[in-house]
Amino acid sequence: MKAYSNLLLTLLLPLVSSQVFHWGPCPQPPVQQNFDLHRYLGKWFEIEKLPASFERGKCIEANYSVRADGTIKVFNSQLWRGKVRTVEGTAVVQDIREPAKLGVSFSYLTPYSPYWVLYTDYVSMAMVYSCTDILRLFHVDFAWILSRTRTLPPATISSAKVTFTSNNIDISKMIPTDQQGCDKQR
Ligand SMILES: *[C@@H]1O[C@H](CO)[C@@H](O)[C@H](O)[C@H]1NC(C)=O
Repeated sequence: MKAYSNLLLTLLLPLVSSQVFHWGPCPQPPVQQNFDLHRYLGKWFEIEKLPASFERGKCIEANYSVRADGTIKVFNSQLWRGKVRTVEGTAVVQDIREPAKLGVSFSYLTPYSPYWVLYTDYVSMAMVYSCTDILRLFHVDFAWILSRTRTLPPATISSAKVTFTSNNIDISKMIPTDQQGCDKQR
């Protein structure tokens, strides 16, 4: 019974906590070829995202680093209701043949969520996609446009959106993240 209710919770949580779900299985976009995790480490700022209810604040950023034990630390922070909120998680490469397909978990209680790097040049921007199939009937997905700085040229953002769309990812609900006034408030 416990296992059953845990399964149910895992299945239903994405539904109640996100506004973005679509019929049909997850799209299978191509990911960054020859992905080099070490060049990807460090600080990234969130420029736009498909709404995720766990990220309601502003000044959202992530810092990826290698822990002493070799695991990848994910350190996310955001400013919400005037306070800096942080959360630490772990990223893993689930299949070394596909290094751009990471999994990220923020608690040992929750399974690893997909974190696919669709594209990155490592030095300026990255496109990340996360999609979970639910009973193969529908899927819940998240998408992020990340930048090494708090802003990106509008042309870069539009071209990222064209790439998402051409890979059958519906980013019509994507919204910009407020990255203004962040440095003075910290
Ligand atoms: C990212 O995290 C690592 C490890 O905690 C830390 O040493 C580094 O200074 C952080 N980088 C930035 C830009 O905050």
